Amino acid sequence: MITSLSSWKRLEQLATEKKSDSILSYFRLDSLRLRKYTFRACDCYFDFSKNLLVDDVFSALLQFAKERNLADEIKRMFNGEAINTTEKRAVLHTALRSKKSTINVDGENVVPLVNAELEKVRVLSEKIRSGEWVGFSGKPITDIVNIGIGGSDLGPAMVTQALSAYSHPQLTMHFVSNVDGTHLWETLKKCNQETTLFIVASKTFTTQETITNALAAKRWILTATTDEHIAKHFLAVSTAIGKAKQFGITEDNIVGFWDWVGGRYSVWSSIGISIAISIGFEGFLQFLDGANVVDTHFEAAPFFENIPVIMGLIGMWYCTFLGYDSYAVLPYDQYLARFPAYLQQLDMESNGKSVTRTGENVTYKTGPIVWGEPGTNGQHAFYQLIHQGTRTIPVDFLVAKEGLSPYTDQHTILQANCIAQAEALLIGKNEETVREELKNNLNAELLIPHKVFEGNKPSTTIVYPKISPKTVGTLLALYEHKVFVQGILWDINSFDQWGVELGKQLASNVLPELQKSTSQRGTHDPSTTALISLLQRDDSGLKKEG
Ligand code: F6P
Repeated sequence: MITSLSSWKRLEQLATEKKSDSILSYFRLDSLRLRKYTFRACDCYFDFSKNLLVDDVFSALLQFAKERNLADEIKRMFNGEAINTTEKRAVLHTALRSKKSTINVDGENVVPLVNAELEKVRVLSEKIRSGEWVGFSGKPITDIVNIGIGGSDLGPAMVTQALSAYSHPQLTMHFVSNVDGTHLWETLKKCNQETTLFIVASKTFTTQETITNALAAKRWILTATTDEHIAKHFLAVSTAIGKAKQFGITEDNIVGFWDWVGGRYSVWSSIGISIAISIGFEGFLQFLDGANVVDTHFEAAPFFENIPVIMGLIGMWYCTFLGYDSYAVLPYDQYLARFPAYLQQLDMESNGKSVTRTGENVTYKTGPIVWGEPGTNGQHAFYQLIHQGTRTIPVDFLVAKEGLSPYTDQHTILQANCIAQAEALLIGKNEETVREELKNNLNAELLIPHKVFEGNKPSTTIVYPKISPKTVGTLLALYEHKVFVQGILWDINSFDQWGVELGKQLASNVLPELQKSTSQRGTHDPSTTALISLLQRDDSGLKKEG
């Protein structure tokens, strides 16, 4: 158990000693603090200095990483060892953006395989972008609907939105994930059968939401044309080529990937084809490049200046030792509006685990709750709780040095808000200052406690040059490796997701009961039985489809 390591014990002791420390006093006591805890790497600037992190804690964290054999574990991942032990799989999303010529999985070099699928992505995306790909009536495609969920949606959807400034002017990208028919219906209202192309994106090609939506999409196309034209309106991206073919998608229109690419790590694979269609294949390559820069850094940089390692260590220090069980990611960048949602799957599906890699119950806190919204919207919603609530919620602020919009003055306002929020969280406002501010106010005594800011709230600020395919690739990969680091530190398997299975299994029991397609009543708890009775359909069909 990791709790018996000497560095663990040291960290426990430090947590007791340091939890009430003042970050501002760290600055006062150490004139080199800023220099020590800020880094330039991967074209970005990282300011960790506003964290509740000080030299002896940092050393103990680094020692912990050493005792957890993090260096070897990183090598094992990059070397394609089957580190996803419950599924006996390698974890090699890094191979999808690698510049190495040989990466072996079970003795097979996967680099040529990766390149071959990438070439298919190029050919297909260029055909669509150039207008050469036409629908059943001979018109070029105007609307792309990616049907997928989880990793087969969040990555492409988030990145496509993030890079919308680089998008093809004649192509509109849509993403349908929810099994709620409303999602598909509202999307299709904006599309025309003649010029719409669906991408069915599913690693397994068995996911209920995706298959249900894909079948409905097929019916929608068939309201305007006949079966022989289906191929002009469907692409598939999957590891299960056979199942995609069974669905009716022709082999030429199927792009593959491999089981050593986890769903939530698949945006770099052909799952990212919608990105290539939207921003062009060259842009997609730059996106991969941005991640490769991080991979190279992560593999080579010593831990004391290795950004994903530092991010992982700080996060673990907060979550496990100081008990801060959520953290907010606040991009001051409208293009990154979906980044927190993307990180929720990446982080929480990876590290929301309570047994070790060998199956023992953990006795410490693992994966944090991740949430966030773009600034400045969050400031007018939940920042109140971060500033004056009862919890400590560490924050990651993300901001671009340069904005893309022509409203450069607004970018400066945005940056000012970002910097000011980090400063406010750090310095707070004490009673004395508030008293001075209210010296002419008759209600001063009443107001003072409400206007005091405790401060000392930790944050990290990440500054990137500007939103570009490369930058977005870099940001994603940084968080991917942070999640990996934490999984190793906690001794959990970050690459399986058994926790999503039970709900799926029970839904398949409940569905026939709701549909009344079975007369057999399942055994449920009384609450579930009552809900099934309440929602049971009286008719077996659906409203007529539009
Ligand atoms: O939510 C579980 C999960 O398996 C995710 O890990 C995955 O990204 C998502 O479902 C979608 O799976 P698929 O790509 O196989 O449809």
